[in-house]
Amino acid sequence: MKALTVIPHQVGSAALIDVAEPPESDGPVLVETLAVGICGTDIEILSGAYGWSPPGRERLVLGHESLGRVLDAPAGGPVSKGDLVVGIVRRPDPVPCANCAVMEWDFCRNGQYTERGIKEHDGYLSERYRITPEFVIKVDSTLGILGVLLEPTSVVAKAWEDVDRIGGRAHWAPTTVLVTGAGPIGLLAALLGIQRGLEVHVLDRMSEGVKPDLVRALGAIYHSGPVSDIGFNPDVVIECTGVSSVILKAMTHVGVGGVICLTGVSSGGHSIKFDEGALNRAMVLENVAVVGSVNANRRHYELAAVALAAADREWLSGLVNRRVPLEQWSQALDRQEDDVKVVVELNTDYSGSA
Ligand code: BGC
Repeated sequence: MKALTVIPHQVGSAALIDVAEPPESDGPVLVETLAVGICGTDIEILSGAYGWSPPGRERLVLGHESLGRVLDAPAGGPVSKGDLVVGIVRRPDPVPCANCAVMEWDFCRNGQYTERGIKEHDGYLSERYRITPEFVIKVDSTLGILGVLLEPTSVVAKAWEDVDRIGGRAHWAPTTVLVTGAGPIGLLAALLGIQRGLEVHVLDRMSEGVKPDLVRALGAIYHSGPVSDIGFNPDVVIECTGVSSVILKAMTHVGVGGVICLTGVSSGGHSIKFDEGALNRAMVLENVAVVGSVNANRRHYELAAVALAAADREWLSGLVNRRVPLEQWSQALDRQEDDVKVVVELNTDYSGSA
């Protein structure tokens, strides 16, 4: 079968090659891959900056934002033949650490977790893959290709859970949220904010185009200037840019008792001058909390599946706005100005059992 592979830390090594059928050791559920979304992490792996192959192997099969259809599954399990499904990315470490032992692998303490398509475990960008039932999630079949948004939605479902748990340290009744960054993660964070009944503001650089249009179509307010110009102090900030100047401004403009959740991974190597003392003073005197958030466990995927099933299909379709056939995978990496979520398609039939 065909698979898109890469030699981690080797620029220009990506290649669509023939690989063996998925090993039985990956699990009894056999899935045909329909589509795989491309994100910043894939671009980082392809640029040679991130990623690890499975032990003893040179190449890693790429792809962690998957959508597939079950070809075969054990009877009585959570998924059956014909279901549209998404594979969970992370696997608990083998020790396991205290968090992985209770299925909270997104908080793995020893770093020995694996991630499909990223860290020491083949990804989903192959014609077929195998998986165990506890790591596969059924998606609403009426979503069709939009089910490919489940993995990024799981990341923001976790971010919102973090915000609520931290906010809940005192009376917590937020009304406003600022999302910084209008990429797929930012837009999905905004969707979850709207679903919670909040007044949602989204800030990005572009003053016009697909992103501002998607924000407005969601019923949120779009801003393209600096954070300091939004004119109010939000209760919650979901930071999705990873840009230091935006992060620091967000920290000094959040409301009293507010929560800032950082989801963007910065590239590092950029330093900016700022007054650490003033930042500390503002954070302490106003009970501001900053939390970093990565990955998602099964609970977050389940929350994400509910959120996507409830979302407006036309709006979600605006996010998945470029599709590239597997044979032309390299076109998926040439970023175009209006790209939101670019998807590599292996099959254009997205039908699934109800
Ligand atoms: C994925 C996460 C993963 C993270 C770090 C992100 O792109 O969505 O599942 O934990 O990269 O590897």
